[in-house]
Amino acid sequence: MTEAEFYTVYKGVYLPSRIYSPRGLKYFEEFSFRSDDIIIATYPKSGTTWMQEIVPLIMSGGDPAPVETLPNWQRVPWLEVDQCRTFKLEQRPSPRMLATHFYYNLMPPSFYETKPKVINVMRNPKDVFTSSFHFYGMASFLVNPGPQSEFLHKFLDGKVMFGSWFDHVKSWLNAEDKEHIMYISYEELIMDLKDSVARIAQFLEKRLDAEVMEKIAERCLFKNMKLNRMSNYSTTPREFMDQTKSEFLRKGDVGDWKNQLTVAEAEHFDAAYKDKMKDVKYKFVWD
Ligand code: A3P
Repeated sequence: MTEAEFYTVYKGVYLPSRIYSPRGLKYFEEFSFRSDDIIIATYPKSGTTWMQEIVPLIMSGGDPAPVETLPNWQRVPWLEVDQCRTFKLEQRPSPRMLATHFYYNLMPPSFYETKPKVINVMRNPKDVFTSSFHFYGMASFLVNPGPQSEFLHKFLDGKVMFGSWFDHVKSWLNAEDKEHIMYISYEELIMDLKDSVARIAQFLEKRLDAEVMEKIAERCLFKNMKLNRMSNYSTTPREFMDQTKSEFLRKGDVGDWKNQLTVAEAEHFDAAYKDKMKDVKYKFVWD
C-alpha cells in the first residue's frame, strides 16, 4: 500500500484510513457532549492508555472491575474512531469517560458549548517520537516508519497520524476556558504517580481515601498495568498489532530518546522544537 492509501487527510491532519472513516468522523462532529463528561485529550504515544486506566479507577473509587472487564478502547472510547459509533454512548450514565487525539480547534461544536472536563496529557516530544517509531513498526494500520532519519522528518513536519505534535500541544495550551482543562505531563506521572492520582482525583472532584489512591497508583505502575489483558492490547489480533516486534507497553520510561536518536538527530530535533515552540510560555517539565 502507498502512503496515500494508508492515510485519509481530514482537515489537514493525517488519519489511518483503516480505523477512521467518513462515517465515524461525522459521528464525532455531531457528538453531543455533556458538561460532566471527562475527556482524555492526548497526542498519540503520550500516555493515553495509562490515563484510560487511572481515570476509571478514580471514578470507580478504586474498584478494579471496570479496568478488568472492559478493554481500554471501550471503557474510555476514542470519539473519532469508527468503532465508537457502536458503543451507544448516548445511553451511558454520567459521568462518561471519553478520549480524543484531536487538536482543541478540531473538537465538535458541542464541546465548546458544554465545556466538559478535559485531562490533557503531554509528553517530551523526543520520547513521543521514540515511542511512535516502535509503534509504527508494529501496527499494520500505520505506514512503516522506514529509516529513522526519514521518519524524523515526517514527525517534525506533522506528516504522521494526528499531524504535528507541536500544533497539537499548542492548540490545547491555547484553549479558551482553561479552567475546565487539567494539564499534566507523562513525566509528572512517572515522577510521582501517587501525587498525580491525587491531583487528578481533585480535578475530577472525587474524594478518595489515601489508601485507595495508593492502591490505584500501585495498580497503574508500568510493571503492574502491563499484566492487565484489558489494557495491554494482548487481545488485539497480531495482524493488527504485532507485539512480537514491539510491545504496546514497551518501556514506559522517561528519556528513552537518548537510546534512539543520534546526536545529530537530537540537535536537529531541538532546533525544530526551539523554532516551533518559540511563542509558548508554558513551562514544560522537560525544558
Ligand atoms: P513507550 O513506547 O515509550 O513505552 P499511548 O497510550 O498514548 O499510545 O502511549 C503509549 C506509551 O505510554 C508507551 O510508551 C507505553 O509504554 C506508555 N505507558 C502506558 N502505560 C504506562 C504506565 N502504566 N506507565 C508508564 N508508561 C506507560
